[in-house]
Amino acid sequence: MRSFFTLVALFCALDASIAFTLTKPVPFNRAMSIRAAAADCPLPGTAKLDVDWQDLGFEFRPTKSHLKVEYKNGAWGSPELVSEPYIKLHIGATALHYGQACFEGLKAYAHEDNSVHMFRPDENAKRLRSSCERTMMPVIPEELFKECAREVVKDNMAYVPPYGSNGAMYLRPLLFGSGARVGLQPADEYTFLIMVMPVGDYYKDGLAPIPALVIEDYDRAAPRGVGNVKVAGNYVADLLPNMEGKKKGFPIGLYLDSSTQTTIEEFSTSNFIGINKRQNKYVTPKSSSVLPSITNKSLMALAADSGWKVEQREIPVEELKEFEEVIACGTAVVVTPIGKVVRGDDVYNFGDGKTVGGTTMELYKRMRAIQNGEEEDKFGWNVQVC
Ligand SMILES: *Cc1c(COP(=O)(O)O)cnc(C)c1O
Ligand SMILES: *[C@@H]1O[C@H](CO)[C@@H](O)[C@H](O)[C@H]1NC(C)=O
Repeated sequence: MRSFFTLVALFCALDASIAFTLTKPVPFNRAMSIRAAAADCPLPGTAKLDVDWQDLGFEFRPTKSHLKVEYKNGAWGSPELVSEPYIKLHIGATALHYGQACFEGLKAYAHEDNSVHMFRPDENAKRLRSSCERTMMPVIPEELFKECAREVVKDNMAYVPPYGSNGAMYLRPLLFGSGARVGLQPADEYTFLIMVMPVGDYYKDGLAPIPALVIEDYDRAAPRGVGNVKVAGNYVADLLPNMEGKKKGFPIGLYLDSSTQTTIEEFSTSNFIGINKRQNKYVTPKSSSVLPSITNKSLMALAADSGWKVEQREIPVEELKEFEEVIACGTAVVVTPIGKVVRGDDVYNFGDGKTVGGTTMELYKRMRAIQNGEEEDKFGWNVQVC
């Protein structure tokens, strides 16, 4: 299989280099010709959906296939593409009873030349490894993870939103205990799968700041618990607090450290970033119970590259008043500007609460331009599918 992928990569590289020699040096994104569909590398955006590409939201949509690999007798089997969106599962599976399950989230984007690229899949593979280790599940080797991701995107290429639609192919890798075990022990059989679906731009009508509520009656994660790994249970713990916050008019909740409730941790499903313009600082919390976000890591690199001082440290709640901009970040949205944070009677405002801060906008645009292949990928984040 490896040689096959090398061949495809070679083909794509060849294709690009031909285009480059035919054109005079022009701006980066103009230098490529439109690639024609190759037999083993179909064109993105050719599927017929129930909505226009521009109107996609963030919900499940059927595609051609998902990918599945099973772990049995101490080894991973070979990946298969499955067209039915169902699995047959033992009623004693540890994932169902004890939550032995973890997941990932990443996107693939079509560029103007119709090539398709995943954003930092190596980082997802590494994070999945740490989730597996913490929950006693067998690790999926990084190379196998990347090959599986590439293969399932390629098989579903028609469903990758075309360049210009602002959408992306969302990949949801999932690894769980599928073997039966009733006494508390790790399973001896596991299933790894990757579900894919086309998703739209979260902000079709442009970015707009939203209010956040500090969650005080519940904790998302314990200091030495599983908050720093991407396990299924972390999300169910947040369902009720999330729903209660929404009823009060807050689309997003902010968690503090659970032992003292004095420092900032993260939003329910995204990391916290504070921008202190007067001191030219990008600040993000350091904590043992925060999930290390790949978006946050990427934005930190972009901020540092633009000359911002990047600090990763404890952030006391009162420091909120020092920030002119606050951002919630994650793969699904990239950035969500936060207009204000409310904690009981305390209200912290960022900017006028209506317009998106300049730094937030700049970071967002730069990140999206790299993902769309419109800005040089100087950090080497994009991994070409074909
Ligand atoms: C997945 C996740 C994030 C965002 O991580 P990204 O890699 O940027 O998508 C943030 N917080 C929690 C709790 C998460 O599970
Ligand atoms: C931001 O990302 C980095 C790298 O993934 C992580 O170590 C840090 O804890 C993150 N900050 C927050 C608030 O999660």
